Amino acid sequence: MFKKLIVANWKMNPETPLQAKTIAKGVLKKIPRGVEVVLCPPNIFWSDVAKVKRPSNVFLGTQNVFFEDKGAFTGEVSASMAKESGATFSIIGHSERRALGESDEFISKKVLAAKNAELIPIICVGEKEHDTQGLYLDFLKKQIISATSLLSKSAIKDIVIAYEPIWAIGKDAKNSMSSYDIHQTSLFIRKVFIDLYGQSGKGVRVLYGGSVAPENCEELVKNGEVDGLLVGHQSLIPENFIKILTAVSKIK
Ligand code: PGA
Repeated sequence: MFKKLIVANWKMNPETPLQAKTIAKGVLKKIPRGVEVVLCPPNIFWSDVAKVKRPSNVFLGTQNVFFEDKGAFTGEVSASMAKESGATFSIIGHSERRALGESDEFISKKVLAAKNAELIPIICVGEKEHDTQGLYLDFLKKQIISATSLLSKSAIKDIVIAYEPIWAIGKDAKNSMSSYDIHQTSLFIRKVFIDLYGQSGKGVRVLYGGSVAPENCEELVKNGEVDGLLVGHQSLIPENFIKILTAVSKIK
């Protein structure tokens, strides 16, 4: 059994290195042991956050990586650079990056580059609209097949999938997906992995993301039966993020 995994996606926040350090310090002074935590600050503040002492169940991650190792790729950071700088995880294919034009092909190459650099990819998938006929499930399946298409079967087992329905991102707790629907979808995602990759597919951790807050986190993890959460705006408020970690750490 894994501990639940809670990922803090700071996105393009905060605005100064001091603010980044202050958030990290605020969170790191009260980390419960029963969860694994990944902090993903903007790359430019990475070294500031990395300097803050953290317990062994807290890891650092990047919000993106590039698929080439090095060279003339202005503005990009490679998976191996992230690894060498202390990252353990990298978010890949977040819907906000897909909206900026990141293609499925790019995402599959980034997933491979992350694995080659021994980073654990947190692959984001999620539909724009939730229909009742289940078309969104076909869409998710296609995203999963494409994102993992360059990996060998054995490389699958420790990847992380963050299911983030786009319509549920960035709102308040009442507007997250219901735990019932999360459960249906997480079962579907697990089945896709097992059908595609057999035993290795069983090792994939499935997270939920989209308007996670202290008020809904316990319900979403418990009844949604997910392996953890990807938290956006609430991860920037240390006391709220600590409430989320604490509530989830108590779930049996
Ligand atoms: P949110 O963001 O928690 O602010 O909805 C989640 C995400 O986009 O990763």
